[in-house]
Amino acid sequence: MSTNLPMTIEVDPKRCVRCGLCMNDCLAKVIIASDKGLPQMISGGESRCFRCRHCLAICPTGALSWNGETSNSCATLGETPAPEMMENLLRQRRSVRAYRRENVSKETLDRLAQAMNYVPTGCNDRALFFSYSRSIETTDECRAAVAKYLTTRSDEELPEGIKRYGKFRQALASGEDVFFRNAPHFVAISVSPEARDAHIDPYIAAAQFEMLACSFGLGTCWDGMATSLFNAVPKLYARLNIPDEFTLKIVLLFGIPVVRYARAPLLPPYPASEVSFSD
Ligand SMILES: Cc1cc2nc3c(=O)[nH]c(=O)nc-3n(C[C@H](O)[C@H](O)[C@H](O)COP(=O)(O)O)c2cc1C
Repeated sequence: MSTNLPMTIEVDPKRCVRCGLCMNDCLAKVIIASDKGLPQMISGGESRCFRCRHCLAICPTGALSWNGETSNSCATLGETPAPEMMENLLRQRRSVRAYRRENVSKETLDRLAQAMNYVPTGCNDRALFFSYSRSIETTDECRAAVAKYLTTRSDEELPEGIKRYGKFRQALASGEDVFFRNAPHFVAISVSPEARDAHIDPYIAAAQFEMLACSFGLGTCWDGMATSLFNAVPKLYARLNIPDEFTLKIVLLFGIPVVRYARAPLLPPYPASEVSFSD
């Protein structure tokens, strides 16, 4: 990444066709036309730039570079899924609570992690942090630590936020993996509380992770219980290696499912209204 370079744009005058697309698409309105009609960043624009790179993405001739990133450093556009495929994905996705005891391949883990670089965040703050459990062994250690913690404490000894988990003591003692559903992996998503949309950004990331994982044939399950547990127990939280400036928001289990759903039940529609401004 080139974020340490001075934030600016450069334009190759031979390739620029002066179409103005970069200026029109700049959310921060920090790009204007020079005397020669070439795009340039306004004075002080560096600090107002959202770093969204729309100017770089939209330039039809690849004349513009942003902060040292050129058209050559961008990915070429691929096909996007047909609506029917996306609809199937949304309709057929299920929370999976039974997984094969098998690691997801390193290649798939890397692709999932890399795709997270593209999730949108409010004001493009990009203040997310991802902690991955990349192997069954690591998740096993986590499972064991959680089970040990809960089975060796009375309800009175449990922190306020997770007293309700005392009811799982017996199930945990008998080997039932109430918190991690025998998943081989999980990702814990954290956010800087400074992020302007800190209350939303991690959940968008989780939803996108879930959809992509589904397209790889993986199952996922949002794990609000593990999230609460980690947040309530500092010594378990510490194992996630989340930097101090971030706060854990959601844990997502994932792995190869052993359950296969034969159909997609139709769900009742949410109440909805049509917005109208006319009287
Ligand atoms: C924010 C959030 C937290 C959740 N936490 C848990 C959880 O702790 N344990 C669990 O088994 N499922 C959890 N779920 C999954 C829901 O229970 C699940 O979406 C619901 O049962 C409907 O099933 P479906 O996802 O297969 O449609 C959570 C889902 C969301 C969105």
